[in-house]
Amino acid sequence: MTGYMLAMASLVLSIIICSIAGIKASAIMFSRTEAKMHRKAKKIFYWAIYATVPAAGILVSTVLFLLSGHSVFWLDRLALIPLAGVPAAMIWLLAAPRLKRLRIATGRKPETPPGVRLVSRAAHPALIAPFQFGALGSIAGLYILLTSTAPFRPLSIAVPFLLLLVAGVAIWTAHLNRSSRVSLAGEGLPNRPWMRLLGRLAAAVLIGLAVAYPFYNAKEASQLPASLSMSAGAADYGTGLPLVHEHHHAKAVQTAAAAGAGTGTGRIVSVDQLKGPADRQPDVSYTLTASVQTIKLRSGESVDAWTYNGQIPGPELRARVGQLIEVKLVNQDIEGGVTLHWHGLDVPNGEDGVAGATQDAVMPGESYTYRFVVEQAGSFWYHSHQMSKEAVDKGLFGSLVVEPSEGLPPGTKDITVLTHLWRGAGFAIGDDTGIQRVSIAPGTPVRLRLTNTDDWVRQSYSLTGTAFQVAAIDGTDLNNPGDLIDVSLALTTGGRYDVTFVMPDKPVFLGVGFGSRLGILMSADGTGDIPVQRESGPVFDPTRYGQPTETAFGADSVFDRQFRMVLDNKLGFYNGSFGLQYTINGELFPNTPMFMVKKGELIKTTIINRGAVDHPMHLHGHHMLVLSRNGERVSGSPWWSDTLDVGPGEIYEVAFIANNPGLWMDHCHNLTHAAAGMSMHLMYEGVESPYEVGRATPNHPE
Ligand code: C2O
Ligand code: CU
Repeated sequence: MTGYMLAMASLVLSIIICSIAGIKASAIMFSRTEAKMHRKAKKIFYWAIYATVPAAGILVSTVLFLLSGHSVFWLDRLALIPLAGVPAAMIWLLAAPRLKRLRIATGRKPETPPGVRLVSRAAHPALIAPFQFGALGSIAGLYILLTSTAPFRPLSIAVPFLLLLVAGVAIWTAHLNRSSRVSLAGEGLPNRPWMRLLGRLAAAVLIGLAVAYPFYNAKEASQLPASLSMSAGAADYGTGLPLVHEHHHAKAVQTAAAAGAGTGTGRIVSVDQLKGPADRQPDVSYTLTASVQTIKLRSGESVDAWTYNGQIPGPELRARVGQLIEVKLVNQDIEGGVTLHWHGLDVPNGEDGVAGATQDAVMPGESYTYRFVVEQAGSFWYHSHQMSKEAVDKGLFGSLVVEPSEGLPPGTKDITVLTHLWRGAGFAIGDDTGIQRVSIAPGTPVRLRLTNTDDWVRQSYSLTGTAFQVAAIDGTDLNNPGDLIDVSLALTTGGRYDVTFVMPDKPVFLGVGFGSRLGILMSADGTGDIPVQRESGPVFDPTRYGQPTETAFGADSVFDRQFRMVLDNKLGFYNGSFGLQYTINGELFPNTPMFMVKKGELIKTTIINRGAVDHPMHLHGHHMLVLSRNGERVSGSPWWSDTLDVGPGEIYEVAFIANNPGLWMDHCHNLTHAAAGMSMHLMYEGVESPYEVGRATPNHPE
């Protein structure tokens, strides 16, 4: 990060300094007297020194890149070394000695105009061009820094180098021409500064035109197609052998046999056939009606919301392991359509609720029914996966709790804590932006299900007044979680931590964020003082918490297939708009890779964040076992995640078993990023989807 900022600042500085020095150096030859030439030569010698400072900065930044470890962080950036180093060397080996000699040679007859020999020496390319090369090299360096990303594409480096070479030769020849014109004429050339200015302007316009064309092209190429099938992505087979993957038309899919999805039988199955049991009576049923409402929060503020059953968050859904849950979704009046996605629950693919991947968006007046057997006990949440950024922001989400088949331990006080930022009202727990008070009898087991539903990188939580355990992460229990005191919890967008403790006989306070303005005060009678929140204290680290225990696979397993996912930033276009984009393997949806797997395979993915901000990566339909972070193995309890926060410079290795055939989204749960193209998917061999996304379809999953 520091390397990146240093490189950026040095490159910009180098462009400015070298440009000025280049302009000044090319004007020496027009000095009217020897004294003036003498002074100019001296001054530009100082500019040579100024120009060296940013060049050194660039070189130092590449050393910092190298120190950051993995080659994915620096391989392409090694290009900065010659781009800064070669012009700097030329400045000192070619230009500086000439400037010095010119200074000495112009000492004798200060008041006379410089003779032709002096003028042609001042016009020599070796005195001027190195500064101009410095500016051009830094422009190329900046371009590489802003647009190149991993995996390394040699062409993205070779092209700027080639252009640089051509420009360099052209500049050198132009200077050579000018100085030979001086020698031929036997006198200095007339000084016409406005002509030179005009020449520079013309060059700028020419360069502008040359750049405008590819720029325009890139803008056009980034336009999303009117419709496209998610299963037509850029197949990435990782380290394994290619799988059968053909893009079939929907009709062909419907006639294909239902059985054998992803089993390598060569048969094609549609996501529509990957459903929960159709012929069993549901154990639990709900109806969720989506509608536009203005909601008054419990704390008084009013919010223009999109709601399920007229409330924000939507109603809490509960079921027990083994039960068949049926949820009927009715869209009353959400113009753009809605769906229901069960975040973190590994449901059959056809029940996953992703518009354009597993179903069409449910439009006003329509309804859709989801049915599946819940198999994991834990804390989950549901949200619309149609226009999910806007929908979640406005309230189309709620908590989904799956209790063990025998129910929660008797007497448990079970509290779901959905934290959300309501536009115009501020941060809230559920529908309350203030302090909630709850009375809990001492001795009661308490479970707080912390869920961060924000389009926000992290939320921090602190629990004061008792020791506690983090009993589960992302809906999966941890093994033997130990007691924590004064440890704060940083929870990524979409992630869940279950916090447990036994109620003591004094107040306990759950604080959200800092400043004691938002939280839950728990005490025997609901009264008590709110403790002052401290901002410091260690942050909970899931890699070394709890105790290891047997898992079906682990870091030493033999993997059938391995993938690499590099998260990064790059300057470019997405759907016609220019800016800093968040990329996966250098691409934006729909050019992001589609990881191809076969049912039964054991998969390992290395997730590397080369960019500047956190990305909570969320894989649908599977839980990833976190193997290591930055090369260090997870040493505590097995840590299963469905929404993994990958910070800048971090490298995670995760593994999962491909046991849930389908077409699964894998995206950043900063939904703003997902909506800007930071989205890809996992695809099983032999699976096909008849649904499409894009402008011409009703489906806009992000
Ligand atoms: Cu919580 Cu793809 O979403
Ligand atoms: Cu992101």
